[in-house]
Amino acid sequence: MKKFYKKSHAEKIKTLKATKAISNEDYHLLKNDQLNLPTELADRMIENYILNYDLPLGLAMNFIIDEEKTLIPMVTEEPSVIAAASNAGKIVAQSTGFHTEMDERLVIGQIVLKNVDHPDQAALKLKEKSEKILELANAAHPSILNYGGGAKRIETRVIAADPIYHNPEFFVLHLIVDTSEAMGANIVNTMTEAISAYIINLIGGESLMNILSNYATESVVKAACLINPKDLSTETMDGEKVRDRIIEASQYAKVDPYRAVTNNKGIMNGIDALLVATGNDSRAVEAGAHAYAARDGQYRALTNWSKDKNGYLKGKIELPISIGSVGGTLSVHPTAQFSYRILKQPSANELSRILAAVGLAQNLAALKAIVTDGIQKGHMNLQARALAIRVGAEAQNIDRVAEKLQDAEYKNSETAKKILFEILKEDQDG
Ligand code: MEV
Repeated sequence: MKKFYKKSHAEKIKTLKATKAISNEDYHLLKNDQLNLPTELADRMIENYILNYDLPLGLAMNFIIDEEKTLIPMVTEEPSVIAAASNAGKIVAQSTGFHTEMDERLVIGQIVLKNVDHPDQAALKLKEKSEKILELANAAHPSILNYGGGAKRIETRVIAADPIYHNPEFFVLHLIVDTSEAMGANIVNTMTEAISAYIINLIGGESLMNILSNYATESVVKAACLINPKDLSTETMDGEKVRDRIIEASQYAKVDPYRAVTNNKGIMNGIDALLVATGNDSRAVEAGAHAYAARDGQYRALTNWSKDKNGYLKGKIELPISIGSVGGTLSVHPTAQFSYRILKQPSANELSRILAAVGLAQNLAALKAIVTDGIQKGHMNLQARALAIRVGAEAQNIDRVAEKLQDAEYKNSETAKKILFEILKEDQDG
């Protein structure tokens, strides 16, 4: 896989086959452009379908996650994301690789009621009847029991009336469900709707809604890594200095929400790209991740960088991730199914952990760039080709314009236009 990024598309897919990263069958499907979403399928996926909107899928290299070499399929329109992830993957692989953790993967369903007269007594009654409630919930989706899942427990919450929002008091029952390999939205929505009438019969009140929560605090994932500072050095800065500046950048992102949002956006560059590649719901994970970033009342970075006693840079990420490894888009979309094969068919738990490692890697790459050379240097190198295409360069002229742009002082479309004009003129003059 060495210098994979320098190979032509044909060489890249041959390399994937030769290294057994893909099967012969996938090689032929890729070669013949047969992994895209067919029109007949797309037409059945959404209402009023008219065409497919293509985005590039690439592979981030060099990742070692829990001792496993892992190729990361990523769908993104941003030119630098995959290069940055591969770069960070390489730095981390030189030391420990990524280590990840996830205990439970449970989904929360909310049964929201108003006008419950005695919330404390209601909570007690529900606790007494919890076995019965779980039984009814499971009866609404019994097949989940065959996969080792099912409704596991209940919790109650009271949300106080607030004059600012003019809201009444709300009484909320959380139904906490093991949805096995499924993302679980359908399972949990079915269960909450099925038990709502029983709950009201028991404690009174009126139903407002029954729906899953995307604030997936019962599906929290962690990833960590340790990096030898010597692997962080750049042409102009030694590794210790880079390490210390990354730590300061991390501290800053903890205390200033203006920075924290950008820091987390960088993390989601990687996580979303892998979510989309695997047909998962990136909006659900985004919404949950940002809420988690603000869990103590202030929006903060999802990552933390510090130094261990040996002077190694220590990175950590912690966020909720709700995904599935069966059903939904994955059951129909040939590209999502291909991504799963590239990842060696991970379980939902394993994929959640890979997602966390990718988020941490993406953050490392961004922080390293912004506290050393600045983001534009790397970005512009990668964006030069995009700029060349944008100003109308075609075929081999794309690379010629991009190469000259690298040396130009102002790497913008004006310069790209001038360079293209000169190249075309040179060619015309012979
Ligand atoms: C760009 O898409 C993402 C970054 O701004 C993230 C960051 O600043 O940490 C580079």
